Amino acid sequence: MSTQETAPSTTVALAPERVAQHRRYLMCRPEHFTVDYTINPWMDPAKPTDTAKAVAQWQKLYDLYLELGHEVELIDPLPGYPDMVYTANGGFLIDGIAYGPKFRFVERQGEGPAFIDWFREQGYDTREPRETNEGEGDFLLAGDVILAGVGFRSSDASQDELREIFGREVVSLTLIDPRFYHLDTALAILDPVVEPGAEVGVAYLPHAFDERSQAILAERFPNAILVSDEDGAVFGLNSASDGRNVIISPRATGFEKQLRERGYVPHLVDLSELLLGGGGIKCCTLELRGARA
Ligand code: ARG
Repeated sequence: MSTQETAPSTTVALAPERVAQHRRYLMCRPEHFTVDYTINPWMDPAKPTDTAKAVAQWQKLYDLYLELGHEVELIDPLPGYPDMVYTANGGFLIDGIAYGPKFRFVERQGEGPAFIDWFREQGYDTREPRETNEGEGDFLLAGDVILAGVGFRSSDASQDELREIFGREVVSLTLIDPRFYHLDTALAILDPVVEPGAEVGVAYLPHAFDERSQAILAERFPNAILVSDEDGAVFGLNSASDGRNVIISPRATGFEKQLRERGYVPHLVDLSELLLGGGGIKCCTLELRGARA
């Protein structure tokens, strides 16, 4: 028998210490928020909205990002564009290159030029979109691979445009449940930065995807957190993570527990008012990756 001591078995189950990565985000104060059209199943113009409450809830998210040490840029809200608060749809940026959005529905199409102008003014290498795409709502960076959602909003052809612009592998994932019409409502990236080759922490709702896509996700992310339909249906996955702090809806109680078990630190922010427009935490947050030119 060896005389060497072995670590007590309890330490084996301890979750790893997670490290926060500094983030830069773009947000838009919901000064003109309301629901006066329906372009996703969550939106019902007959239900009253409260713009002041939307602003107050949004402010809590903004303040929390600053408290966590992140930087937040703001784009001016345009009157007549109540969905502009969902800045995730305003583009997709990696390494200082900004790929502009081209919205599927006419109600949001006027937002496109406003985001593109903002990227230009800020000095990003800005690319005008040829194809219909709703930015980071459908495109998520996982390590050095781009996960791209199709089925409801962004077109198949936008994935070729992504490959041309960013020269990276693009993995197409098909969304099949109309409640989860953007990729960021069905899948969350928990580790925005990882060592080359390391598995990226992700969480997703399996049955929001078709079988082909579920198989791809299972193969690429064998250790992913699989969330329940209950947590998915309250937009639990529509969350923002810096690699340690994960900002989620207070209604996603199961997901909160799963995150803690993995060593992440959940922070609860209630955006119930913005959920009336079919959006949550991630929808209100666009990652600004890379320096301006
Ligand atoms: N009402 C907006 C729309 O239907 C909500 C967008 C939510 N954004 C998101 N990234 N999932 O376009």
